[in-house]
Amino acid sequence: MKVLKTAKEVREHYRVSVLRNPGFVPTMGALHEGHLSLVGRATGSCRMTAVSIFVNPTQFNDPDDLLKYPRTLDADLQMLSGVLRENDFVFVPSVEEIYPEPDTRRFDFGDLERVMEGAHRPGHFNGVAQVVSRLFDIIRPSCAFFGQKDFQQLTIIRELARREYPKTEIIACPIVRESDGLAMSSRNRRLLGHHRERAGEIYRTLVAASAMLADFEIPEIREFVTDRINMIPDFRLEYFEIVEQDTLKPVRARIGMSPEKKYYGCIALRAGDVRLIDNMEFGLQ
Ligand code: PAF
Repeated sequence: MKVLKTAKEVREHYRVSVLRNPGFVPTMGALHEGHLSLVGRATGSCRMTAVSIFVNPTQFNDPDDLLKYPRTLDADLQMLSGVLRENDFVFVPSVEEIYPEPDTRRFDFGDLERVMEGAHRPGHFNGVAQVVSRLFDIIRPSCAFFGQKDFQQLTIIRELARREYPKTEIIACPIVRESDGLAMSSRNRRLLGHHRERAGEIYRTLVAASAMLADFEIPEIREFVTDRINMIPDFRLEYFEIVEQDTLKPVRARIGMSPEKKYYGCIALRAGDVRLIDNMEFGLQ
């Protein structure tokens, strides 16, 4: 595998290897099994794979979160060297490479960005769209792999690709979970021991809440989730919404749900000062 730092090096790599339009896995590093599952999907289906590692400053609405975001480049490269092939590459650009000038573009995703993460992290999805479009312009991927844990991000990136990168196929990959159900995330390594011990409760709460859909109304399910998360010492729910898959429209009553559509229960919370998100399909029985 090659480690490339600039768009120029990427172009040169395409010229020399006579391959281009790789399968692409964009990441912010601090890699874990979840990322490796995306990389495995890419290497399994594409002749060339590119992985980017770039902690994108424009998608952090909280400067403290950006500061504390785990950075483990040496370990990440070590991990990738075990799974990437000779022509595959890791793109590790500097902030100046991605943003030679401040990026003033404003993306409008309408209602898709007005709920959940969009409502709680102002500007977050604009930053995600800025970096993904910059990365897509440099890498020119035939397909790009994104984890379903970032459920709303996936929907927004699909919309970005539909509008601006119709030749890039967006491939959603399932959430990878720890043995107690906690969704794998780079942020998990920042959890304090006693918070980590209770964090499997997030998954169990989603499972229980999805089973409630058969007999309970949405406000009752929301109250159950709120109480169960807030009961854990130092855990604080930010939101829980049941949303329709493609529109991300929150469901307010079961009567509004259609058996033809898919719904997801999406949760965000703080465990101490670490922000976690997760989601699960909520089916009508
Ligand atoms: O999901 C992430 O890790 C990031 O939001 C992404 C897509 C790499 C953009 O910085």
